[in-house]
Amino acid sequence: MEEAKVTPWEVTGEVDYDTLIKEFGTSKITPSILESIKKHSKKLHYMLERGIFFSHRDLDIVLKEYSEGKKFAIYTGRGPSGDTHLGHMIPWIFCKWLQDAFNVDFYFMITDDEKFLCKKDLTLEQTNKLAYENALDIVALGFDPKKTFIFADTDYMNQLYKIALPIAKRVTASQAKAVFGFTNNTNIGMYLWPAIQAATCFLPSVLTGKKIRTLIPAAIDQDPYWRIARDVAPKLGFPKTAAIHNIFLPSLKGPQGKMSTSEGNEATIFTTDDEKTVKKKINKYAFSGGRDTLEEHRKKGGNPDIDMSYQWLTFFEEDDKKLKKIYDDYKSGKLLSGELKAILIKKVNTFLKQHQKNREKAKKLLPKFILKD
Ligand code: TYM
Repeated sequence: MEEAKVTPWEVTGEVDYDTLIKEFGTSKITPSILESIKKHSKKLHYMLERGIFFSHRDLDIVLKEYSEGKKFAIYTGRGPSGDTHLGHMIPWIFCKWLQDAFNVDFYFMITDDEKFLCKKDLTLEQTNKLAYENALDIVALGFDPKKTFIFADTDYMNQLYKIALPIAKRVTASQAKAVFGFTNNTNIGMYLWPAIQAATCFLPSVLTGKKIRTLIPAAIDQDPYWRIARDVAPKLGFPKTAAIHNIFLPSLKGPQGKMSTSEGNEATIFTTDDEKTVKKKINKYAFSGGRDTLEEHRKKGGNPDIDMSYQWLTFFEEDDKKLKKIYDDYKSGKLLSGELKAILIKKVNTFLKQHQKNREKAKKLLPKFILKD
């Protein structure tokens, strides 16, 4: 098996999430943390119940402070290197639930500067345009415009730079090399970059003049930034940022790596894909845990644990009962591979149909959400 590698720019191999918790020094989400969340939210989001959000930093502290009447702010983001794909939506869907459950502010950073620096073929004009395209996917999820703040870095840099500089001053090149894998060939813009992504951890405190802890829902690939932010926070007089990490929506092609556009677009499902395209991609690329022949499948059953259509349904089918029935029927051989794919196609297309309608409406609403210098 290919050795797993997880960095903010690349995820390869089959990720063992328990190993990653140890390597990154984060904590597993325990039943007692879930209980504390439930005290405030009444119900748990299915992504918490299913372990899609599996790891954290200081979530227990965030919850304790919240029960003492201290509000936190949510922070997450997007690197606009292309259209939004379904993997990106995982933390964002969860953020929407968090905002509703805890009634908190939400900050969304779109890193047109980062993607310009790290992607050879993209111009700043392109990444900035993509930033506002990607922002539509956030607005489409129904966030509260009074409590949601979206910005593209190059249009908000005056504010960010002042927070980033004191961070940058406290991080050496050798730390950046160790944490992010930078080399002598990495451009110098990237050496400053982690201080900018970390700056938003403290933005809510700066804007409100109060000490507001941020909670960052994101896949675990982004965690290295929070190590830097947490390291410098006490030195700058800010609360240490907290994080809650999700696992990766796998590639349709199989459990190696994550759903990503780096390997090409053919097996990636974008929020802008039409019904036919979704159907074609899933039918052609979704790795099947079915048997070679119909007869064998009926007799021995399929393997949902390696079947990407089933795995994807664990991310998108909210109804536990429905999901369990699909699992059991597939395992017993009652449900065929093609039928399972058809269930996923329907699920994704139903979600996207509504999302695309909301995305159209979002074009008008967008200005209400945008922060600019
Ligand atoms: P980006 O654009 O690579 O990813 C955006 C968000 O999507 C998550 N993600 C995934 N989650 C589940 N399954 C996948 N296959 C998958 N692929 C990506 C990422 O973890 C991320 O949460 N540098 C950042 C932008 C950024 C940011 C942040 C992200 C700035 N500040 C704070 C998270 C939190 C980036 O390029 O993300």
